[in-house]
Parts: sequence; C-alpha cells; structure tokens
Amino acid sequence: MLTVLLSILMFSQGLSMDSRGTSFITAFPENIAVYYKKTVNLLKITTLHPNTTVNVTYMANGTVNTTECIKNGTILTVYWNKNVEEYQFVSSNKSFRITSDKNVTVLSVSGWEGRFQSHVVQPEQHLGTVYQVPALNYTKIAASFSLVMTSVRFLPFRLMIINAVDRNNSVTIEQVDERGQSQADRITLDPYKLFQIEINGTVREIKASEKVAVLLTHPCFDRIDCSCNMVVNQLKPPVFDKIPATFLVPSYFNAKQLLVTTNQSCSVCLYSNCISVQNSTDIVPLFGNIINTSSLISTTVHVSLRLISPGLILDLIPTSMFSGCYLLGFSSPSSSSRALVIANTSSTNGVRINDQPLNSNIRWSVMNGSEYSWALVEAQKIGTIWHPTSKIGVYMIERLDFDSIYGSPAMAINMDPDGNGCLVTPEIFVLGKDEMSWFMSRKYCLENAYQLARIVANNTVNKVVLNMTLQKPTEGWIGLRRGLYTTDWYWKNEDNFPSTVNFTYWQRGQPEKPEKGLCASVSLDPRKEFKWQSAPCCSKKKPVCYGTTKYLTYSDTVKL
Ligand SMILES: *[C@@H]1O[C@H](CO)[C@@H](O)[C@H](O)[C@H]1NC(C)=O
Ligand SMILES: *[C@@H]1O[C@H](CO)[C@@H](O)[C@H](O)[C@H]1NC(C)=O
Ligand SMILES: *[C@@H]1O[C@H](CO)[C@@H](O)[C@H](O)[C@H]1NC(C)=O
Ligand SMILES: *[C@@H]1O[C@H](CO)[C@@H](O)[C@H](O)[C@H]1NC(C)=O
Ligand SMILES: *[C@@H]1O[C@H](CO)[C@@H](O)[C@H](O)[C@H]1NC(C)=O
Ligand SMILES: *[C@@H]1O[C@H](CO)[C@@H](O)[C@H](O)[C@H]1NC(C)=O
Ligand SMILES: *[C@@H]1O[C@H](CO)[C@@H](O)[C@H](O)[C@H]1NC(C)=O
Ligand SMILES: *[C@@H]1O[C@H](CO)[C@@H](O)[C@H](O)[C@H]1NC(C)=O
Ligand SMILES: *[C@@H]1O[C@H](CO)[C@@H](O)[C@H](O)[C@H]1NC(C)=O
Ligand SMILES: *[C@@H]1O[C@H](CO)[C@@H](O)[C@H](O)[C@H]1NC(C)=O
Ligand SMILES: *[C@@H]1O[C@H](CO)[C@@H](O)[C@H](O)[C@H]1NC(C)=O
Ligand SMILES: *[C@@H]1O[C@H](CO)[C@@H](O)[C@H](O)[C@H]1NC(C)=O
Repeated sequence: MLTVLLSILMFSQGLSMDSRGTSFITAFPENIAVYYKKTVNLLKITTLHPNTTVNVTYMANGTVNTTECIKNGTILTVYWNKNVEEYQFVSSNKSFRITSDKNVTVLSVSGWEGRFQSHVVQPEQHLGTVYQVPALNYTKIAASFSLVMTSVRFLPFRLMIINAVDRNNSVTIEQVDERGQSQADRITLDPYKLFQIEINGTVREIKASEKVAVLLTHPCFDRIDCSCNMVVNQLKPPVFDKIPATFLVPSYFNAKQLLVTTNQSCSVCLYSNCISVQNSTDIVPLFGNIINTSSLISTTVHVSLRLISPGLILDLIPTSMFSGCYLLGFSSPSSSSRALVIANTSSTNGVRINDQPLNSNIRWSVMNGSEYSWALVEAQKIGTIWHPTSKIGVYMIERLDFDSIYGSPAMAINMDPDGNGCLVTPEIFVLGKDEMSWFMSRKYCLENAYQLARIVANNTVNKVVLNMTLQKPTEGWIGLRRGLYTTDWYWKNEDNFPSTVNFTYWQRGQPEKPEKGLCASVSLDPRKEFKWQSAPCCSKKKPVCYGTTKYLTYSDTVKL
C-alpha cells in the first residue's frame, strides 16, 4: 500500500507544469564574467489574486522587500545589481526567497546590454530531493558547433544547488568517471544556502535529504564566432513512470543537439527512427538533419529532453504537459520578443491572447506526422495565451542579436482549458458555522468575500453537496428569494449574473404559499437529497456561501 501511495505521489508531483505557488527559492548565476559590471538581475513577480502580500528576501544580508499588491495581475519587478551573482564554487548565502500569502508566479531575468535570459522559477511544491543531471561536457558540445572560440570560454557547465528548507540539508553529488568508477561527495547546506559546482559530464545525480532547487548554468555559452551568452535552466525532478511521451520540435528552434536525461533505459525516436538510451543521461546525436524541418520525437518512458544549440539550452514541453493557459512575461518587450505557440491543427483559431483572438495574419505551420501546428505570435509586455477547449504548448522566445534566440517554456497558470480564460480560482461553496437569519447570512457571506449560494444548474447541486456532506445534517440559506410585491422567485446576486430562475430543485410539495416564507433554504441532509424548501426569512439557518470562479484577464494591451 505504501509503495503504491509513494509512486502516486511522485507521479503526480513530476507531472504538473503549473507555475503558481506561494514559496520560491532561486539565485542569480554569473552572467558572462565577474568583471562585466553592466549586468542587471531582476525578479518579475505576477500576482494572480487581489490583495496579495509578497516578500522578497535576499538571504546574504537579510534585506526583505515586502510589497502589498491591491490588484490581481500586477507585476512587481525587483532589481538587483551585479553583486548578487554568485561566481564562486563555495557555499554561499546569495539566494533569494520569494514568499506570498496567495499564489503568484516568478520569472528570473538576467540581462547584459540588451540581451535577456529568463527562466520560470519553479514553486517549492515542484522541487525534489533527487535530480538527474544532464551529462554535459562543454568541450565536446562547444566543439560540435564548429565556431571560432576563444580559449577563455572553455569553462565547464555549473550546477547551483540551493537548499529550499529552513533546516540543514545533506546533499550527495554522485559522479561516474570515464572509467565507469563512481564516487560520491557529500556536502551539508545550511538553511537556504547554496553551493555551486562545476560539471564536465561526470556528475550524474544529486540526492538531498530535503528539497533543493538545482540550476544548470553556464556564464558564457558560445553562440556565434567570438560571442557568447549566459544560459540558465532549472532542473526538474525525474518522473517515475513508464508512460510514453511525445515532444514537438518546431524548426524555429534550430536544434544542434538533443540531450536526454532519464533514470531508466528507453528508446528515443525521431518518427520511426529509434535509438536506445541507457539509464543515465546522454547526448543523442540528432538523427540526420532536423534543423530545417519540424520534428516529432517520441520516447518509451517519461524523460527530460533538452535542445542544445549555440547560446541556448531549451527544455521541451511534452504534449502530456501542455496546459490550457500560460502567462507571458517579457523582460524587453520589443520586436524581439515572441511567443511560440503549439496547438492542435484543427483548433488553432481558438487560441487567444489576453481577451482577443490572435491576429489573423499569424502563419501556422503544420508539424508533419502530428496533429499539431506551431506559430510565432508577436508578444506583448505581459499577457496570457490560452485556449478555451484544448491544451497548448507555449514558449517565451527572445531574439538576441545575430539571429540567435533564447527561450524557455512560458508560465503555466492552469493545466485545464476553460472557456472563459485563465482560471485562477474555481467556484467554491462554504458553509457558515452559526445559524442566523437570511439577511444576516447574506451579510456574513459578503463579509467573507463570498455571496449567498447560487445554484443554477444540476451540476452545481453536486458541487454544493460535495462540500456539505461532511457537516452535520442541517439546513442552509441560499441566495434564492421572492420579490415582496410580485412574489416571483429570483436570485439575489451580488455580481451582474442574471437573476432569472431557470433551474429549481424543490422538495416535493415545495415551495409553499408566499405567506409561509419569502426565502429559500437547502436541506443539508443526504436523505433529503439536498433539495430546497421555502422558509420565513427570519428563521435561523446556516449560510451557504458561494465564491464565483475568478480569472486572470488582461484586456488587449498596447504593443510596446
Ligand atoms: C495555487 O496553485 C496551485 C498550483 O500550483 C493550485 O493547486 C492551488 O489550488 C492554488 N491555490 C489557490 C488558493 O488558488
Ligand atoms: C483588498 O483590501 C482592501 C483594503 O484592505 C479592501 O478594501 C478590498 O475589499 C480588498 N479586496 C478584496 C478583493 O479582498
Ligand atoms: C543587501 O545587498 C543588496 C545587493 O547587494 C544591496 O542592494 C542592499 O543595499 C543590501 N542591504 C543591506 C541592508 O546591506
Ligand atoms: C520593493 O519592490 C518594489 C517593487 O518593485 C519597489 O517599488 C520598491 O522600491 C522596493 N523596495 C525596496 C526597499 O527595495
Ligand atoms: C513577510 O515578512 C514579514 C516579516 O518581515 C512576515 O511577518 C510576513 O508573514 C511575511 N509574509 C509572507 C507572505 O511571507
Ligand atoms: C569531454 O570531451 C572532451 C572532448 O571530446 C574529452 O577529451 C574529455 O575527456 C571529455 N570529458 C569527460 C569528463 O568525459
Ligand atoms: C571532471 O570533474 C570532476 C569533478 O569536478 C573531476 O574529478 C574530473 O577530473 C574532471 N574530469 C575532466 C576530464 O576534466
Ligand atoms: C543504471 O543501471 C545500472 C544497471 O542496470 C545500475 O547499476 C545503475 O545504478 C543505474 N544507474 C542509475 C543512475 O540509475
Ligand atoms: C469547501 O469548503 C472549504 C472551507 O470549508 C473551502 O476551502 C473549499 O474550497 C470548499 N471546496 C469546494 C469544492 O467548494
Ligand atoms: C443531474 O442530471 C443527471 C442526468 O440528467 C441525473 O442523473 C442526476 O441525478 C442529476 N443530479 C441532480 C443532483 O439532480
Ligand atoms: C434563463 O433563461 C432566459 C430565457 O431563456 C435567459 O434569457 C436567461 O439568460 C437564462 N438565465 C440564466 C441564468 O441562464
Ligand atoms: C482580477 O480579478 C477580477 C475578478 O475575478 C477580474 O474581473 C479581473 O479581470 C482580474 N484582473 C486581471 C488583470 O486579471
């Protein structure tokens, strides 16, 4: 039983792409070089709910920035200078904690002279204690780009291991050398401290006693002749399942190498051309030349796939983790920022940006052998991209100079598509503790940021019931009542929802004559099937409060 539970837990943990959370930890790696002073580092935090308090703490000196955001959809940008970058291979306290009282998303951005690298900071619930490390040998990868390089840049890749908990954390770094000999190094991280190491292809696994965040980075990844940019990529804990996965690679990504990270052996196929990969992590030479065409890659188990090309390490989103809604956040809104959208070919016209359909001149390219198409969408400073009925994949792309790109998956706000946009709060029903009159019940619900329950369809009955059956059987007030003069039933809504009554669920013989009561109550007794009856408004019952669904909805923003 325990094993089953454990594997279910691991399974569900690894499978969520949802970027929302209330606790995050991250750090800024070195950008280009310690002596390039002009770099900027920033955290872009987007609130999803009204009245959100956000704390950003720099652990090195305990500086706390507390900001209260009244409005949902506010972007807080907290700037830091070069000094917060960690370039040394030591235990360090240059980490940043972001905590909030309601869900937010966090984007980390490092910039240098108009080039920006951003990545989504994973919320604490997506962090793990075990990470498979991609076998990255910089010398080998850089050599394969056939670029003219300066020797100074033959630096190894780096890993930043950040303790995510307020306790000591014992971390084991497992390596396998060229002769297949394994070796384990142990370090202890103090609360929220980080440790940076260099990797050259020999480090295979990080194991910690408590949760850690792991950033894969290189300060100066060769891009074009004699030029480079920093890369950052947050590793995700492995998913232990045997479910095949499909990855779509738009031609736009210009991939040079494919990196597979897995803890089990599997096949990796480009269409029907397969190769087998061992349980460790491997660079898979690209099958022939997929550079100019879009490709479909399938694997027999769940793996992490990264595309590598000069200046870029990009996580691919498996189709099983496509989401209904994403948030975009660009550091430099300009003609160089784009969203790359992958959608079902038959429903590309459903894709929405903010509250609008996509511009009709968007060109969709069908991806051979799959039911998907991709398109580049001109990006706005901030916005949502969503689909009302099907899941889509979205990457944020920044064009650096000389036609190279930098990118990462966009921030997923909700995995499930919703007809009205990006759902951040589903509807909820909450039963008040004390019995009171209908009028006091209405006040009680309003004071708790709810309104009296509105039950307008059969499936709503089931939702109310879901949350009430744990309570002792009783009776509760709902927002249905009679007009004083007309005696017609109507819903007393606090929003602009129509008050007409199109669905009723009366007990047999109900409602009674108006003299017997102008208000309606619901029986919270399973034996009475949760049906309604009329009742005098001054009688005492428990309030059944209702919170409507809430969405993140940017209206069509001005392009910048
Ligand atoms: C916060 O986000 C998580 C997903 O990361 C979601 O499961 C949860 O319901 C959200 N909480 C609230 C109160 O919206
Ligand atoms: C947010 O806080 C303000 C001031 O405390 C309050 O007036 C407002 O009703 C709150 N809004 C929500 C949606 O809770
Ligand atoms: C903490 O460090 C940051 C970044 O170096 C700096 O901006 C800030 O002034 C420092 N705060 C204190 C209290 O020293
Ligand atoms: C805290 O962050 C907010 C949002 O970016 C900024 O306006 C404010 O100046 C910061 N406060 C401090 C003390 O750094
Ligand atoms: C923010 O920090 C203050 C103390 O500086 C603390 O009282 C508060 O609980 C923190 N809030 C969140 C959301 O972390
Ligand atoms: C990295 O690649 C270079 C060149 O291919 C090779 O000489 C070196 O041994 C490799 N390093 C490791 C640790 O495998
Ligand atoms: C790779 O790194 C490990 C640990 O940092 C080191 O022991 C090993 O000698 C390195 N190998 C090469 C070929 O540089
Ligand atoms: C890979 O498989 C071998 C043999 O099947 C096993 O000894 C080794 O521990 C595995 N390595 C990882 C990283 O799972
Ligand atoms: C059930 O009630 C609790 C509070 O008692 C609330 O937090 C939760 O969101 C409700 N669930 C649903 C599905 O309405
Ligand atoms: C809702 O409708 C379905 C089918 O129309 C029916 O089986 C079910 O009993 C109804 N539920 C309620 C609570 O009325
Ligand atoms: C109820 O039905 C009327 C007429 O069909 C319609 O105009 C109204 O929008 C419906 N109300 C709701 C809440 O669905
Ligand atoms: C904030 O929430 C309200 C209520 O759900 C919604 O109407 C509004 O569009 C939201 N604002 C943004 C910017 O998402």
